[in-house]
Amino acid sequence: MLNHSSRAQPDRPLRPAPRRRFGGAALAAAFSVFSLSIAWHEARGPRAQQSDELPITQAYADDAARTPDDTAAPAGPLANGDLIKRGQYLARAADCAACHTADKSRPFAGGLPISTPFGTIVTPNITPDPDTGIGRWTDADFIRAMHEGIGKSGERLYPAFPYTAYTRVTEQDVLAIRAYLNTLQPIHFTPPANSLKFPFNQRWLMVFWNMFNFTEGRFVPDPQKSAEWNRGAYLVEGLAHCGECHTPRNFMQGLKSDARLSGAVLAGWHAFNITPDKLSGVGAWSDAELRAYLATGAAPGRANAAGPMGEVVANSTQYLTPVDLRSIVVYLRSVPPVSGGDTRSRHDWGAPADDVTGLRGTAVKGVNGAQLFVANCASCHNWSGQGVGASAPGAYPSLIHNSTVGASDPNNLALVILHGVNRTTAHADVMMPAFGGHLDDEQIAALTNYVTRQFGNPQATIGASRVAKLRTLQ
Ligand code: HEC
Ligand code: HEC
Ligand code: HEC
Repeated sequence: MLNHSSRAQPDRPLRPAPRRRFGGAALAAAFSVFSLSIAWHEARGPRAQQSDELPITQAYADDAARTPDDTAAPAGPLANGDLIKRGQYLARAADCAACHTADKSRPFAGGLPISTPFGTIVTPNITPDPDTGIGRWTDADFIRAMHEGIGKSGERLYPAFPYTAYTRVTEQDVLAIRAYLNTLQPIHFTPPANSLKFPFNQRWLMVFWNMFNFTEGRFVPDPQKSAEWNRGAYLVEGLAHCGECHTPRNFMQGLKSDARLSGAVLAGWHAFNITPDKLSGVGAWSDAELRAYLATGAAPGRANAAGPMGEVVANSTQYLTPVDLRSIVVYLRSVPPVSGGDTRSRHDWGAPADDVTGLRGTAVKGVNGAQLFVANCASCHNWSGQGVGASAPGAYPSLIHNSTVGASDPNNLALVILHGVNRTTAHADVMMPAFGGHLDDEQIAALTNYVTRQFGNPQATIGASRVAKLRTLQ
């Protein structure tokens, strides 16, 4: 057993704040008092009870009994090779690489800048390098980081590291991930420093953030629910941290748990509502479509995965076993549906273009979206917008009945045109070129507006200045 007493740390600043101008200190003090008062109310509120560490072994045992699957947790200790294999599977489900691999030639060595409203946080090196990575960390240090968001010297970690979700992951799974990380090539690399503004560079202030945005505690299986539901909840709310992108945030960047998975914006991208609401969410999708989307990134007639979701599919969900994918879908079906007020589903818009002569146009005056479409897009998506290859792996998808084209906000479409699509899975290598380099903001706006008007939601329109802004995000 681990020595838990060595993990107890005083909740006081270990790196005392340097002396600052009065304004900053007063702001920090006011923030602290405010936080304390909210925390006091929270502590007495209905959500106050802490979930204690309970074994998930029962749910796993049920799982294992039903499905002879190498991802179900073992009854006894694992042989070393199996432990590492399991750790790799879990690290993929948790998508550690999404943030800790900035450069493919330096896997897990960090260096990815993450922009937040408070400044930029750069991911650290988590290879076993003793000087620049986590080679000198004990297992207890590692568990404390994953479960409590506390670094090796007791410093508070920023929630850009999703410990708020990983806190639900069992100790056994955290240790399997560690065992896998230990087998990686140690890389000697120190990522650039964070650039956060005062007072956000004061890590100890996270004590207050945690008080009302973080509930420490392992996932507690619900005995009323099936093993599949429990496994799905464990993945969605814990390891796979879907809510980190799909759940809206409050003014402090904490997740709004009462609007779970109802959609949020990150770096311009809309991570859509994935609650079971029929119109605003994914309630109209079949189970098989949801599984196909997570396994391959394509659900013909519904959606394709581009941008951050394309990466989630390529780095993480494509590796999940059929049992785990099924469990995720079972759980997604059960979260409270949240309506965004839509009157028609994102994937339910559009009709094929039926007049190619109209598209060719006569006099070229100014920027013409239809002509830009014929020149740049029709070779793959067809001038009618119906795509090529229907539902075959790697098909050029139809733009009709596509959630990105039918969304009420045109950002994702403009971003897809700017950056293209690049997604490699065991299923197919899909590649759509990026047009950001040779089309200007006005052309991309005209093209976006043509595509939404013709093939999607005509209310979604964009101007050149918003395209210019989207270009700067990432
Ligand atoms: C969404 C992005 C993201 C994901 C996913 C992520 N991390 Fe991190 N991680 C970060 C950031 C950002 C930090 C630095 C936080 C800070 O500076 O306070 C961090 C810090 C850490 C630290 C502390 C390292 C140190 O030197 O203090 C460890 C350990 C860690 N992550 C492990 C993991 C593991 C293991 C996974 C997968 C299970 C993972 N992370 C997934 C963003 C991420
Ligand atoms: C890094 C951020 C991120 C994470 C983590 C993430 N998603 Fe997404 N997701 C997105 C974005 C952005 C889109 C929109 C993609 C597009 O327009 O091509 C999306 C789209 C989707 C869609 C398609 C919805 C539609 O109507 O088109 C589903 C389903 C989905 N995500 C499920 C999940 C599940 C389940 C998880 C956890 C296993 C997850 N996502 C984790 C960012 C994320
Ligand atoms: C070389 C072929 C090619 C060209 C040219 C091309 N695309 Fe694509 N497009 C693709 C492929 C491949 C995908 C991704 C399919 C997948 O996700 O499985 C895609 C996906 C899309 C999507 C769906 C993205 C999502 O997140 O759901 C849209 C919208 C789109 N393209 C619009 C356009 C527009 C507009 C143009 C012209 C500016 C264009 N494409 C040019 C091949 C192409």
